[in-house]
Amino acid sequence: MYFRLMISVVVGTRPEIIKMAPIILELKRRNTNFRIVHTGQHYDLELSQIFFEELGLPHPDHLLEVGSGTQAHQTATALIRLEEVFMEQEPDLVLVEGDTNTVLAGALAAAKLEIDVGHVEAGLRSRDLRMPEEHNRRLTDHISKHLFAPTEWSASNLKSEGVWGDVHVVGNTVIDACIRYLPLATQKSEVLERLEFDQFALATAHRAENVDDPAVLKNIVQILVDCPAPVVYPLHPRTEKMLKEQEMWEELSGSGNVQIIPPVGYFDFLVLMKNCSFILTDSGGIQEEVTAPNLMKKVFVLRLSTERPEAVETGHAEVVGLEPGRVLESVRAFLESKEMRMGESPYGTGNSGRKIVDILETPQ
Ligand code: UD1
Ligand code: UDP
Repeated sequence: MYFRLMISVVVGTRPEIIKMAPIILELKRRNTNFRIVHTGQHYDLELSQIFFEELGLPHPDHLLEVGSGTQAHQTATALIRLEEVFMEQEPDLVLVEGDTNTVLAGALAAAKLEIDVGHVEAGLRSRDLRMPEEHNRRLTDHISKHLFAPTEWSASNLKSEGVWGDVHVVGNTVIDACIRYLPLATQKSEVLERLEFDQFALATAHRAENVDDPAVLKNIVQILVDCPAPVVYPLHPRTEKMLKEQEMWEELSGSGNVQIIPPVGYFDFLVLMKNCSFILTDSGGIQEEVTAPNLMKKVFVLRLSTERPEAVETGHAEVVGLEPGRVLESVRAFLESKEMRMGESPYGTGNSGRKIVDILETPQ
């Protein structure tokens, strides 16, 4: 008998929407039966809706309005609401991407209903248990049936932990996204016209273990203020809130070296990445995007560890910690040497979305 697979695609935050886009568009192209469930973990227009519009995605079928909260409250609210949706939808498979609270809630709600889970971007490990993302990705990997590891390294983490599901090395869908959207972004974005500087470094920071710790946040402010290149800084709302609460906003915004802008859509961000001299960030996705063949940028990772060591090996990323002297020394060394020897992207050639859908559609 003909069996038509029904897939529930779960998203909740900015990076999940961007990285699921190539998969969603491939499911749509093949006329696969799927639904999009948005938990609403991110709800501001510039962290959510703008990506659906720019990336040409269908509207979510369910918007669960989970919103912000403590780690447990946010995860638990998403868990309860996702369970209700899955009970109504009865999907054959729930697909989650990455390591957010939405991902853990989606995977757990599905597993408890005995629905198969597919985890896109499986097997990453920072081995830093201060990070909520490390809890989420480890737990999700161990209840997933399909584990889509971006690289051999992430696959080896999964195998050494003895996961139950099937491990597939497929690259990272963010490379698909960079290749697909940069040409369009270059046509459409006017972000460069709004900049105060011709040459600039690009910065982002939002990791909880960084910006929620006032001492670390102070270091980030000092790094940006003293950076030897002027900095364009699209500000995540979490960081804006902390900068204001900790009374660091004036120092940063008044320094003359940093142009703070609201978080931007994907087209603007791609154009900023393409045109900057280098990037300072604690983001996960940006460490991968800089390896895309049409971006090839240097990124200084403002963290103590990374779950993306492949980008360090290829010469794109350098983990520099958060001590201003050490960070700025690395930046100066880069600016003086102009060293740009970088290998090919370790995250694939831009066909990860197609590979994932091929595997999902292979009869079990
Ligand atoms: C979350 C993910 C993180 C991911 C990031 C992508 C978890 C544990 N963290 O972090 O892995 O890298 O998304 O950007 O899942 N806020 C708004 N508007 C919004 C959303 C959030 O103002 O639309 C503010 C609220 O003050 C909220 C804070 O940002 O409390 C943090 O939001 P939250 O979704 O809890 O975590 P992120 O830091 O965004
Ligand atoms: N990004 C964006 N606008 C911004 C900042 C980032 O579109 O103002 C994109 C960026 O290109 C990347 C993703 O958002 O694809 C990364 O999201 P974030 O850093 O919030 O999360 P992480 O990757 O750390 O989970």
